[in-house]
Amino acid sequence: MTASAVRGARGTYPGAVSGSGEGDPATPARGSQPLDDSLADGLEAVEERLLRAVGHVDDLVDAVARHLVLAGGKRVRPALTLLTSHLGDPRRPEVVTAAVAVEMTHLASLYHDDVMDSAPLRRGAAAAHQLWGNEVAILTGDLLFARASRLVADLGPDAVRLQAETFERLCLGQLHETMGPRPGEDPVAHHLQVLRDKTGSLIATSARYGAQLSGAGAEATAVVVAYGEAVGVAFQIADDVLDLSDPTSRAERTGKVPGTDLREGVATLPTLLARADAARGDGRAAALVEALDSDLSGDAELEAVLVAFGGAPQTQAAREEAERWSQRAVDALAPLPGGEVKDALVEFAREVVQRDR
Ligand code: IPE
Ligand code: IPE
Ligand code: MG
Ligand code: MG
Repeated sequence: MTASAVRGARGTYPGAVSGSGEGDPATPARGSQPLDDSLADGLEAVEERLLRAVGHVDDLVDAVARHLVLAGGKRVRPALTLLTSHLGDPRRPEVVTAAVAVEMTHLASLYHDDVMDSAPLRRGAAAAHQLWGNEVAILTGDLLFARASRLVADLGPDAVRLQAETFERLCLGQLHETMGPRPGEDPVAHHLQVLRDKTGSLIATSARYGAQLSGAGAEATAVVVAYGEAVGVAFQIADDVLDLSDPTSRAERTGKVPGTDLREGVATLPTLLARADAARGDGRAAALVEALDSDLSGDAELEAVLVAFGGAPQTQAAREEAERWSQRAVDALAPLPGGEVKDALVEFAREVVQRDR
């Protein structure tokens, strides 16, 4: 089997490898349909519920709230919820509700993040703040967080607590990224904790909802939580590297403007590693840091820094760090029995570090 459906309804990872085949073919997913078909159906249901959940306020607000849903997106988080639900009974209706809620939480965070990062483009469309201004973008993000909470309220107090804890970690990750490390704190260790919190937390929760709400049991749930957090870190590092490493990585593929983080001075693993190497006396890294700290408002200057980082050993080191988190995610799956769900999770962990969008 392949994990094509995990790539989302929108064909996220073209050129992805097919399943490892290591699993036991005699252990099919628990559901009446083949896994890929079931995931595709689930994603269709998520899409329909998502559109309903972001609308029905009034004409003006609906246009803003639907903007990023309609713009695209990979739907990685709901796909993961659907996939891990196959560790139990995937037909339980709570599963799709949770899948919609995690995508809405993610969506809301994007409205806020693009204000914070002054990002011009998201999902190939103008960021909401570009079209409606910061106030409207921030309040729409708040509205979507509220709508996500309403959905989770139908799932019971444990799910509500989990949603609250996850949202808190997401906010803390964004806060700690914005505030930077304390004096004397290792910037790379600080950054990795930021990635666990701002990205790993919601991806882990996406996996957890699927296992927990399908009745997969405590052990399987703990496994997918550890897996999800490590995959989340790999996913975020890969995203940050993607923004830097390929001068041809243009907005058509990622739906975002390359170099946005550089221009805004957002720390990413390659830039932090370059700063650390420069502080240790590495001349080439010092030149990179000097370029990084120069005026990057001009396109030619930004492009030159992007190209320089693309070939830099620190970018390669960041890729290798992403690989290690991906491997950590795969290792976390060890207690799960073999089968197509496990194969798909392994494949997804491998793909997130090889993706090109
Ligand atoms: C973007 O997430 C934010 C990160 C954690 C890197 P995605 O890459 O999942 O964004 P969409 O949902 O596909 O737009
Ligand atoms: C995305 O963070 C938002 C959250 C994880 C909450 P980033 O700022 O790192 O991601 P992109 O590059 O804008 O998608
Ligand atoms: Mg951003
Ligand atoms: Mg950000």
